[in-house]
Amino acid sequence: YPLKKPAYVDWSFAGPFGHWDLGQLQRGLKVYKEVCSTCHSMNLVSFRNLEALGYSEDQVRALAAEYQITDPAPNAQGESFQRPGIPSDRLPSPYPNPEAAAAALGGAHPPDLSLIAKARAVERGFPNFVFDIFTQYAEAGPDYIHALLTGYGEPVPENVTVQPGTYYNPHFISGPALAMPAPLSEGAVSYDDGAPTTVEQYSRDVTAFLMWTAEPHLVERKATGFVVMIFLIGFAIMLYLVKNRVWASTP
Ligand code: HEM
Repeated sequence: YPLKKPAYVDWSFAGPFGHWDLGQLQRGLKVYKEVCSTCHSMNLVSFRNLEALGYSEDQVRALAAEYQITDPAPNAQGESFQRPGIPSDRLPSPYPNPEAAAAALGGAHPPDLSLIAKARAVERGFPNFVFDIFTQYAEAGPDYIHALLTGYGEPVPENVTVQPGTYYNPHFISGPALAMPAPLSEGAVSYDDGAPTTVEQYSRDVTAFLMWTAEPHLVERKATGFVVMIFLIGFAIMLYLVKNRVWASTP
């Protein structure tokens, strides 16, 4: 089946001086909350982690309280019970278990999105995926998710059969069609900072947010890496000069 390569997107977090665009991450969280979270969980992200996006403790507390969480411990009678979320809870799945999700979505299982931006930095098909480790670039995962979210609605080629309950998308990594319908549509999420409310913009924003959840310390890592490289270059020059002095021929 035909595979379309994801287009390169100019992410703010790319390159040695990459940084997060906090406004974009906040918009991405809004898209996740209003659209993606109706199917996908984020098991590795606690509400309190969202303070890093510029929210106050009270805002995080209020956001967590909007969710009903099944408490991990049973009550005094030994029954499981639901309560409003607190900042230490994780972003929950709307389904009590994978079987319930599959029953609601015709057998499909929406993956947890916490690490998906790193998990999808791969190429489809043999032998490309074998060489990924040498050839792949750091933003391949976000480019893929952005391409997937904007890649619906293309005419289905003649040699492709789309199974019932699946939707054609030439970017999907493991087949011509996937069980997720096009999740985004123009104007579906309102923005209060004047950013365009288009599928293109939603896709970029939610993908940037997914990159942040997958690698929240990306910017610190790059900044530290830069200082380490400067140090190593300086150290190499110094070692060279020392070596010249130690091995200088005595007249
Ligand atoms: C799969 C993202 C909304 C149901 C996926 C995948 C991603 C993703 C990255 C993995 C694709 C892969 O395996 O390469 C998103 C985002 C959403 C969103 C960013 C919000 C903008 C939804 C909604 C639903 C849904 C609202 C339910 C109606 C699914 C299902 C799969 C899936 C069932 C599994 C597809 C398969 O393996 O065939 N989603 N999703 N998603 N999503 Fe979503």
